[in-house]
Amino acid sequence: MTQLPLSAVILAAGKGTRMRSPLPKILHDIGNTPLLGHVLGLCQKAGINNKMIVTGHQAEAVQKAALELDDGCDFCIQEPQLGTAHAVSQAKEFLQKQEGDVVILYADTPLIHPETLKAMQKIRQAGYDMAFLGFESASPGGYGRLVMDDQGELHEIVEAKDATPEQLEIPYCNSGVMMVKAGILLGLLEQVDNKNAKEEYYLTDVVKIGRKMGLKVGVGLCHEDETIGVNAQAELAHAELIFQTHKRLEVMQMGVTLQMPQTVYFSYDTEIGAGTRIEPHVYFGPKVQIEEECYIKAFSHIEGAHIHKNAVIGPFARLRTGTMVQQDVKIGNFVETKNALIDQGVKINHLSYIGDASIGKETNIGAGTITCNYDGYEKHKTFIGSHAFIGSNSSLVAPVHIGDNAYIGSGSVITKNVTGGALALTRGPYKEVPGWSERLKKKKIS
Ligand code: UD1
Ligand code: CA
Repeated sequence: MTQLPLSAVILAAGKGTRMRSPLPKILHDIGNTPLLGHVLGLCQKAGINNKMIVTGHQAEAVQKAALELDDGCDFCIQEPQLGTAHAVSQAKEFLQKQEGDVVILYADTPLIHPETLKAMQKIRQAGYDMAFLGFESASPGGYGRLVMDDQGELHEIVEAKDATPEQLEIPYCNSGVMMVKAGILLGLLEQVDNKNAKEEYYLTDVVKIGRKMGLKVGVGLCHEDETIGVNAQAELAHAELIFQTHKRLEVMQMGVTLQMPQTVYFSYDTEIGAGTRIEPHVYFGPKVQIEEECYIKAFSHIEGAHIHKNAVIGPFARLRTGTMVQQDVKIGNFVETKNALIDQGVKINHLSYIGDASIGKETNIGAGTITCNYDGYEKHKTFIGSHAFIGSNSSLVAPVHIGDNAYIGSGSVITKNVTGGALALTRGPYKEVPGWSERLKKKKIS
């Protein structure tokens, strides 16, 4: 059997009351992207192009955020919310158009791996009409239980509230994720009723209904960590921990050295090249790309930055959005950069602010150099050429241009363009008064 095209229905109508937050639950972040973004990322990795998001609670905010994450999303509205089968039914028109399989995903279940969906597709290819994703749990609590036979075929899913004491002993739980041919699902959904403890239309009822029609239902099992759902702030933090642990392992498998992995924070899109070493307590915000053999020292905070090969960053460096660091650059302690192009071999070793600037090859920026980029109304640019030397404690008042090989005397305030190769100095002339201190002392204590 060849693999069918896969589309997705993503349930996102729920209220998320237990988050106690004005922000819709599924727009809370893990690794600096919303829960919904993780699910859309899963779709992208699994090659799913057609996605229908079932919205309800704060539908407008959810739809706006979803389109920012992926402009290929479609939406429908579920109002009122009468259960998971009712939610999927709202996607009827979408399902009618899908030729292949559909997978039901949940916007508040963000950590499912693309390999897991592949495994479910394999189950479908092996001749099962439907595949459910389950997991084994030591504390199955309120999850629906998977009632399977010896062959691992699924007979029914019973919700915890409707289960017998024997069924509650079953350690295999329903993640909610299921895969089936879209055309078949529609027919099954029509037969679901709400005669149960919660008086809801349960999606899980399609198992029993399908079996009656002679369909074969299989189960794929994954680790409980993958199917964690987020319902409260503490669960969000727990999901973040699982995400970080997984990302750290992934990064180490790519050949990155983490001295103390548990102290390094990654974003969902952080990319780090092999041979790079990372000291403890480093934070990677969104859109960070670090190439091979860099050395990121402790307590650095990096976001929106591209760092090329062999650069040394930190300790205590803050690289902000728009920072482009070329090969062999050194950025040391208490240096802040923003919107800055820093060319090969540049050194900015101590206590600087470099914003809206570009710095040419091999230039040395002395301790305490500040680009004064803001006049209270607008931002202005600083251009510094290659092989220049900016003396310590200089203020470069933008807009300003400093030529190649120029030399700025320490403590200068540069407000005019400096010609290449020139020395520019704005200090007052040096003055020395011999014996002044002794004379003052006599005056004060006589
Ligand atoms: C559901 C499953 C259960 C499974 C569990 C896994 C059913 C009947 N039960 O139970 O077997 O173990 O998930 O977490 O499917 N939603 C809507 N509209 C609705 C109802 C729900 O969009 O009308 C969304 C919710 O926002 C949520 C998801 O569907 O993201 C699951 O709904 P929820 O009510 O939490 O189902 P559970 O009772 O947890
Ligand atoms: Ca739930």
